[in-house]
Amino acid sequence: MPSIHHRYALFLAMAAMFFRGVSVGVNWGTMATHKLPPEKVVQMLKNNGFDKLKLFEADDRILQALIGTQIEVMLAIPNYMLAEMSESPDAAAVWVQGNVTTYFYSGGVNIKYVAVGNEPVLKTYNGIYLKYTLPALKNIQDALNRAGHGDRIKATIPFNADAYYSPDSNPVPSAGDFRPEIRHLTLGIIQFLHENDAPFTVNIYPFLSLYGNDHFPFDFAFFDGTNVPIRDQSLTYTNMFDANFDTLVWAMNKAGYPDMEIIVGEVGWPTDGDKYANIENAKRFNQGLLQHFLSGQGTPLRRGKIDIYLFSLIDEDSKSTDPGNFERHWGIFEFDGKPKYELDLVGMQEDRGLVPVEGVKYMGRRWCVLNPDMNDFEDLPDNIKYACSLSDCTALGYGCSCGHLSLQGNASYAFNMYYQVKGQKSWDCDFNGMAMIIDQDPSDSSCKFPIMIDYSSSMILHKELFELFWTSFSVCLMFLLVL
Ligand SMILES: *[C@@H]1O[C@H](CO)[C@@H](O)[C@H](O)[C@H]1NC(C)=O
Ligand SMILES: *[C@@H]1O[C@H](CO)[C@@H](O)[C@H](O)[C@H]1NC(C)=O
Repeated sequence: MPSIHHRYALFLAMAAMFFRGVSVGVNWGTMATHKLPPEKVVQMLKNNGFDKLKLFEADDRILQALIGTQIEVMLAIPNYMLAEMSESPDAAAVWVQGNVTTYFYSGGVNIKYVAVGNEPVLKTYNGIYLKYTLPALKNIQDALNRAGHGDRIKATIPFNADAYYSPDSNPVPSAGDFRPEIRHLTLGIIQFLHENDAPFTVNIYPFLSLYGNDHFPFDFAFFDGTNVPIRDQSLTYTNMFDANFDTLVWAMNKAGYPDMEIIVGEVGWPTDGDKYANIENAKRFNQGLLQHFLSGQGTPLRRGKIDIYLFSLIDEDSKSTDPGNFERHWGIFEFDGKPKYELDLVGMQEDRGLVPVEGVKYMGRRWCVLNPDMNDFEDLPDNIKYACSLSDCTALGYGCSCGHLSLQGNASYAFNMYYQVKGQKSWDCDFNGMAMIIDQDPSDSSCKFPIMIDYSSSMILHKELFELFWTSFSVCLMFLLVL
């Protein structure tokens, strides 16, 4: 009965296409004081059905944990390595050997892209990476080709959306073009990517448009807004993301690359650190984004499926706050792998919850707070400043999750963050005698006083063994000497 077999095979193929079709990627950054074990995070990625992952470094432990999974990986070369990669084909070959070839075997890690730098032509970098960018890209793709991976692994460069624009006098996508200062470089990069069948990668953040501009039409940042749509020739735009993406497509068209593949390397919404950064807005944006893209409808100018990588997986409490206090709160999961909100990753409106990281170990249920008997607050601001400079107080600002705290509340929050980040050592809860350790959770409904992940137990054990070894060794030595 060949026809039944045939139909069965067709069904399988369609099911596979369907499941591949609804896939979503995610960025995993690791700038956190207390990191989750990579194996547990990889398990969580699998449990949630993430099948694409973007990393900002080639982290050995993460790559080890990804061995044997099907997850498609974009590995990145950090900006500080671009100079070296641009100047030395050998350095590029060593990088590819150590970070790609080592893991890229059947049953190993499914590496698909190498991101050369991270937004190296970003305006705020003032051009410091410009001259390295294209040569580094070429050296890395050449090294991939020479290692025999070129057909399956492509080098790309993540761009920020500040690489292109539409003039204020005509703010519609069809007026889009690349920023004049980087136009020549960008076209060189596009040409190289196109020749190598590699995609152009862009990071798009409607949140930042809102953050920078109180006059920005709030609803236009989302996908279900009720603003008056923007008309552009025969096309209609109802959201910022589509308009921004199509501005890029127009710039590509004008440069003669209408078929250039574009992937969205970062897109997301933070949940704290700014008045617009909260759970409600983040859920609204990310859920709208997923529904929009997983439906495969694309943008008005670019119909069809577009690959996206959500930014980001987990909060990172040691990221620089230069871009803003929200920078440490982009995760759809908390620092400890707990989902912040429900997100339906397959766009089927099933309201499926996210699966948390399982088996996380925490330090003890202890918090460090301001002693309530204190009544001299003169030294408080200095102590708060000190505690916050070595931990993360980005939730204390105006409009943030702990923005409603009093000065005393601020002090407790800051003391606790310091105490937790330092690993709950009793001597880290002193602050000139103003602080005390309690075992009652001081959190309220919006402001959480976290307890950090206990990641040190195995290290402490090693240290103890080491000390034990030295002690016995010295005793033996003394014994021998005495003899
Ligand atoms: C792998 O990449 C990381 C940065 O992502 C770098 O520190 C390391 O040196 C690379 N390994 C090799 C062998 O080049
Ligand atoms: C609490 O700390 C935040 C952030 O440093 C500050 O903006 C706010 O004014 C402080 N609140 C009080 C009551 O001191």
